[in-house]
Amino acid sequence: MNPASTLIEARNLVKTYTMGDMTVHALRGVSLDIAGGDFVAIMGASGSGKSTLMNILGCLDLPTSGEYRLAGEEVEGLAQDALASIRNRRIGFVFQQFNLLPRTRALENVELPMVYAGVKAAERRVAAIAALQRVGLGERGGHTPSELSGGQQQRVAIARALVNHPQLILADEPTGALDTKTSEDIMQLLTELNAQGMTVVIVTHESDIAAWARRKIVFRDGLIVEDVRQAGHLAMTSFEAAAAPGKAKELESDPNLSTLDMAQGNGGRIPIPGSEGSTGSQAIAESGSDPYSRSAQGAAAALGRPEQGTAPSGGSAAHAVASVGVNLT
Ligand SMILES: Nc1ncnc2c1ncn2[C@@H]1O[C@H](COP(=O)(O)OP(=O)(O)OP(=O)(O)O)[C@@H](O)[C@H]1O
Ligand SMILES: [Mg+2]
Repeated sequence: MNPASTLIEARNLVKTYTMGDMTVHALRGVSLDIAGGDFVAIMGASGSGKSTLMNILGCLDLPTSGEYRLAGEEVEGLAQDALASIRNRRIGFVFQQFNLLPRTRALENVELPMVYAGVKAAERRVAAIAALQRVGLGERGGHTPSELSGGQQQRVAIARALVNHPQLILADEPTGALDTKTSEDIMQLLTELNAQGMTVVIVTHESDIAAWARRKIVFRDGLIVEDVRQAGHLAMTSFEAAAAPGKAKELESDPNLSTLDMAQGNGGRIPIPGSEGSTGSQAIAESGSDPYSRSAQGAAAALGRPEQGTAPSGGSAAHAVASVGVNLT
């Protein structure tokens, strides 16, 4: 693979949690490359390590050992502010429970990542409206989450994730709280974003949802046990499909869509010698947390309104800035 096109390079990722006498081996040595522009679904039983991997890929947590490069940047060993900067520049997060500020209008929820960056109000309003239009909610900016359906709330969350034009969208069970039809709409939206160039990685328990992706990775007990290319749904909007009718055939005959069953847990990649010895076991953030809701209190303060009961405590404004501040240029 051309290294220039590799967005995610993970080698021998190990994540071990110690709780009293008990040790949990959440990841046991995961190696994985994801090319820029790919659309990947991660499956596996509960507790198999999917979210643990997503937290590491999202620079929300560090592995106990192993190496991770995102767009060529070494992640392990970086200080928190540098990690926050990588997150803010490169990654949009989408979660099962949407994680919107409940008493805050859709527009301001979407503006949140820009608030901390000090983007001027008028400028961020324009960007938030554009992001909401992109997810089909241009008319709903004035609604609070409770005035929106689950699918619409997830669209707002996706607008928030993409407002900073990230290269990578990480979505941990984005359809887990949605009905089948709404789930399809969300997958259609993610497919369109992927067609527009964003790399998309989702975690799902549902085969129907995983089928939208062009690569499926299966976890078992902290290891990759299967890694296959698949057709996916055509990653084209209806507009593009009409403009390029030959593309569907081209995709169908793509030789890269062959099956690569992985017998072993390293995803078939060649481990980098010495990566076992690397350090970086310190957690950046509480595992399982997300950069938007963790900062809800600070966010609400920045937006100039109280927002109660929305976030785990401890999200100071400074922390929030580090978590979701963005660098708009
Ligand atoms: N902060 C933590 N402290 C201790 N153990 C943890 C922590 N986070 C995850 N684990 C453990 O690590 C293992 C992997 O958890 P993880 O959340 O990655 O699973 P998952 O595949 O996402 O599961 P699910 O499908 O239920 O979301 C589990 O055994 C879990 O209990
Ligand atoms: Mg999980």
